[in-house]
Amino acid sequence: MKKIRIAVLVSGGGTNLQALINAFKKGMIKNGTIELVISSNKNAYAIQRAEKAGIPTCVVERKGYSTQLLFENALDNLLSYGRIDLIVLAGFMCILSKEFTLRYPKRIINIHPSLIPSFCGKGFYGLRVHEAAIERGVKLTGATVHYVNEIPDGGEIIIQKAVGVRCGDTPEILQKRVMRQAEWKILPLAVEEVCSVLIEEEKKRKEREWYLT
Ligand code: GRF
Repeated sequence: MKKIRIAVLVSGGGTNLQALINAFKKGMIKNGTIELVISSNKNAYAIQRAEKAGIPTCVVERKGYSTQLLFENALDNLLSYGRIDLIVLAGFMCILSKEFTLRYPKRIINIHPSLIPSFCGKGFYGLRVHEAAIERGVKLTGATVHYVNEIPDGGEIIIQKAVGVRCGDTPEILQKRVMRQAEWKILPLAVEEVCSVLIEEEKKRKEREWYLT
């Protein structure tokens, strides 16, 4: 049976990519395969994680292109060359334009380290998200996997998991807890769920085509 061809887009340490690789190894993701890892940073440790797992990697740095359009054209070319069905943003630190996201409706997902709609959108990335949660004094935070549309962190929510904030937490401590207790668990689950949906849609489309010809 056809599997969904996945590209994971990264910029940093790649612990979420690692969670996906581990989930594939354990057979938790049955309906997809990681065909490509694209990094927006040539020094990202995520690249080494991908290489170790035997996944092809490419570096596409924003600063290597004079415009957003040219940068996104380079991404598009790689994605179509790899016949990619699903794009997973796992700590990808580049903004994608409305035009780009509209070309992949319900085919881009992102992991965000808070319970959307709290602490999300423009300016909320990395440790800043956890700093804001601590500053506000919330007792629960967490992580969200959502579809990507033209609004930053605004697409339909797929899975969320809550994590407790403890007295004395620093942003670094909270970030680690959110990753361990939520991100690394919900991202593989969401990827498998979205792959099954895409396979089901493809099956229905083929049945309809067969019926109408
Ligand atoms: C994660 O916290 C993720 O939620 C956010 O960026 C971070 C990436 O970490 N979007 P890693 O590169 O997967 O370790």
